[in-house]
Amino acid sequence: MPERKQFRAIKGTRDILPPDSALWNWFEQTARDVFESYNFGEVRLPMFEETELFARSIGVETDVVSKEMYTFEDRGNIHVGFPETIEEVLVSNEAVQAAWQAGRIPHTMDNELRVNLIGHACGSISEEGAPALLRFISALHALDLGDSLTLRPEATASVCRAYIEHNLQALPGNAKLYYIGPMFRRERPQKGRYRQFYQIGAEVLGASDAPAIDAELLEMLLVFFHRVGLRRTTLYINSIGDKNCRPAYVELLRAELQKVKDRLGPDSQRRIETNPLRVLDSKIPEEQPIIEKLPRISGHLCDDCRAHFSKLKDELNLRGIEYVENWRLVRGLDYYTRTTFEVTAAGLGSQNAVCGGGRYDGLVELLGGPPTKGIGFAIGTDRSILSIEEGGNAPKLAGLAVYVAWMGPAAYPAAVRITRKLREAGLTVELPPEEMKFKKSLGLADKLGARYALIIGEDEVASASYTLKNLADAEQRKLSENDLLEYLESERRGSRA
Ligand code: HAM
Repeated sequence: MPERKQFRAIKGTRDILPPDSALWNWFEQTARDVFESYNFGEVRLPMFEETELFARSIGVETDVVSKEMYTFEDRGNIHVGFPETIEEVLVSNEAVQAAWQAGRIPHTMDNELRVNLIGHACGSISEEGAPALLRFISALHALDLGDSLTLRPEATASVCRAYIEHNLQALPGNAKLYYIGPMFRRERPQKGRYRQFYQIGAEVLGASDAPAIDAELLEMLLVFFHRVGLRRTTLYINSIGDKNCRPAYVELLRAELQKVKDRLGPDSQRRIETNPLRVLDSKIPEEQPIIEKLPRISGHLCDDCRAHFSKLKDELNLRGIEYVENWRLVRGLDYYTRTTFEVTAAGLGSQNAVCGGGRYDGLVELLGGPPTKGIGFAIGTDRSILSIEEGGNAPKLAGLAVYVAWMGPAAYPAAVRITRKLREAGLTVELPPEEMKFKKSLGLADKLGARYALIIGEDEVASASYTLKNLADAEQRKLSENDLLEYLESERRGSRA
């Protein structure tokens, strides 16, 4: 007997079960509706990519790349016709063992191949063959049998990769893409923070960096949040300059931070060297008064960046969008230039950012593509839904409309037929697979949250008139099959059924 083991979802991952999954589907469908009304189209991206894509885009010094990625070596997908190739190779058992122990048999190799290699070699081989075997092994190694792959921690890098790969700059206008799906980061799980979490993102890529693009993207985001009932939100915006003005500011910041280094914690001390801007992100209470006195980027933007930021604010005002400027909003990913933003929501504790984004002009170029401007955001679905629920704004979704309480063998064929018709009319219907006592059947209808019970007994079949019971107020009506369909359909259109 195998050991009885209780499998559980991996820490930081979870199952989204009904009825919650219906709320998730509604949330995602609303995003599709809103984004498509702004002429965005969906892109479905792979869940994993080459590790280097993320390292290069997000930056090797970021927390995401340096600590949080799920990286694995792919098993080789080249299968060598091994026994034929080894025929000429003659090596002693010891030579193979030594190569193994010295780690010269590539660890990326498919296990089956490795076992064959060793097994075969150990059988028959003499001393002189050892170098040939090792040459063979290194040839296998050079075939690059295992790529380093990573489960995507975010999707902006993938969108840029796809933009280049499919030559999307050749299409008319800007590429306006959205995506929905899971992301993976090995963070410490807590409320609103998971290792597999879900994002809905949107990106605009193309030749123009007009501030109206930034503003319209933010408008779309806030229209969506409003539509899904995410109300107590705050939009924070900032400009972090570009390659012309930011380097000088970063150096200034580094110099100022050096002066106060002793009063900072170890993380911030390390960041003085690796990425001084990230010190501004610190949440440590003792560091706050020090950070408040640091030079602010707004005083160090070049003319173009200052003009871009000022136009963005005009564009937001034009659209009646409220925002708070936050000079410390630098974001945790390296690809940003100019506009950065975040939206926070109520009811979430410390993990209260429900959306983050910004410009990343130059990222496509960094990945080997043509000069391209880009801006986008990603909404955290897990947190947004949590906040909607905590605010009591989750909608009541339709759920189960009709429970068919049938009794008697003669009623069953009619129950099957009518159930199918109701479902074809778009109603959610539950048909019990076995006959039940009337009381028990209605009790179950209640527990399942059905809005109506349709009672089909042998008498009803004989008279072709069925009893529809409204389970909320116990009101009953007798209806013919046609009237029943009509009644329930009109209820559904009025979104009551
Ligand atoms: P991000 O700020 O890393 O940006 O993530 C965006 C949102 O994803 C966060 O505001 C949060 O709601 C959610 N999120 C992040 N990590 C977790 C987690 N461990 N558990 C639950 N939710 C999480 C990006 O990912 C960028 N790609 C956004 C972007 C798009 N910038 C430009 N285009």
